[in-house]
Amino acid sequence: MEYRIATISGDGIGPEIVREAKKVLDKVGQKYGHNFNYEEVLMGGISIDTYGVPLTDEALETAKKSDAVLLGAVGGNVGNSRWYDVAPNLRPEAGLLAIRKGLNLFANIRPAYLYNDLAGACPLKQEIIGDGFDMVIVRELTGGLYFGERHTETVNGVEQATDTLVYSEKEIRRVAIKAFEIAMKRKKKVTSVDKANVLDSSRLWRKVVAEVAKDYPEVTLENMLVDNCAMQLVMNPRQFDVILTENMFGDILSDEASMITGSIGMLSSASLNESKFGLYEPSHGSAPDIAGKDIANPIATILSAAMMLRFSFDLDKEADAIEDAVRKVLAEGYRTVDIMDEDKKQVGTTEMGNLICDRI
Ligand code: NAD
Ligand code: IPM
Ligand code: MN
Repeated sequence: MEYRIATISGDGIGPEIVREAKKVLDKVGQKYGHNFNYEEVLMGGISIDTYGVPLTDEALETAKKSDAVLLGAVGGNVGNSRWYDVAPNLRPEAGLLAIRKGLNLFANIRPAYLYNDLAGACPLKQEIIGDGFDMVIVRELTGGLYFGERHTETVNGVEQATDTLVYSEKEIRRVAIKAFEIAMKRKKKVTSVDKANVLDSSRLWRKVVAEVAKDYPEVTLENMLVDNCAMQLVMNPRQFDVILTENMFGDILSDEASMITGSIGMLSSASLNESKFGLYEPSHGSAPDIAGKDIANPIATILSAAMMLRFSFDLDKEADAIEDAVRKVLAEGYRTVDIMDEDKKQVGTTEMGNLICDRI
């Protein structure tokens, strides 16, 4: 089969990790007889430097016409880059928000899974890790604080800034349905995370999620406040199966969840709409501090490519082949520096990609 993939390498380590993911996809294509055709699209800082905006209409159109999108990361050193002191819609991250909204990618799926062989890279004690944990964060991606009205003004000589958090019943219902559908294929537990002791939007969230839960009697629904969830993730991560939450809480909790899998360089993600279309990207950012050094961990991006094969193309055995290859490389003791441990073999970005390819 032929597949059209729009690739967005982006900024910082983006080009290095996307290159490795493409290499792995090409190996899968060779072995299983598929053709992955890539079209590179500019987004983020590189698009600002080239076209003056973080995402052009043409770039969005190319993404729309593709079968799926593979993204590295966008953005510079926040607070200290030429892309920082500009209007909100001209920042690199605005390109990412625009493509998520433009493609209606309201459900962001972020699996946090501890590979047995990475227990040494997990900062939690062995008694907490037990025989490992395996959870999925379902993060709402096109609503909430990220997309509310925002402005900065001066009132009576004092500068003030406003960000608004809006959620509609419809936005909550569709992402809740995704979470329950995912839970049905797993351990059948949804933990819905909110701040219903303070926020109106969280109260509506809790009400709508409870309504959706009625259609899934086999799934256990638990509600948890976000501050408690942040604590429970390090105290007892094994209690979680599917965590369902709004945009900002999901952003923060998924970085926390990534670290207990060993590193943010391990956490893949899929951003989905109602159809089979998706944008696949690691959960981490452009890591400007390590860009260009061939030390970034490409595994989150490679596992995101595996999610693309599974979700958008229904290529399950091909996705399994990538995941098995990652497992083998880790079992053989190869590590990028972020997951490095005593007596392991340290490799760079390119070598990690090659090792994974060789095992497919
Ligand atoms: P970051 O995720 O880029 O980096 C945080 C820390 O994790 C850094 O120390 C970095 O070196 C490390 N790290 C990240 N990915 C790694 C990998 N694959 N291998 C090894 N180490 C890795 O977050 P940040 O520093 O807060 O943000 C940097 C830029 O990235 C900002 O401009 C931010 O807006 C942007 N960002 C983009 C995305 C995206 O495009 N999806 C996501 C998050 C942040
Ligand atoms: C992520 C990132 C983005 C987000 C930023 C870069 C806008 O942190 O994908 O997790 O907050 O969604
Ligand atoms: Mn984030």
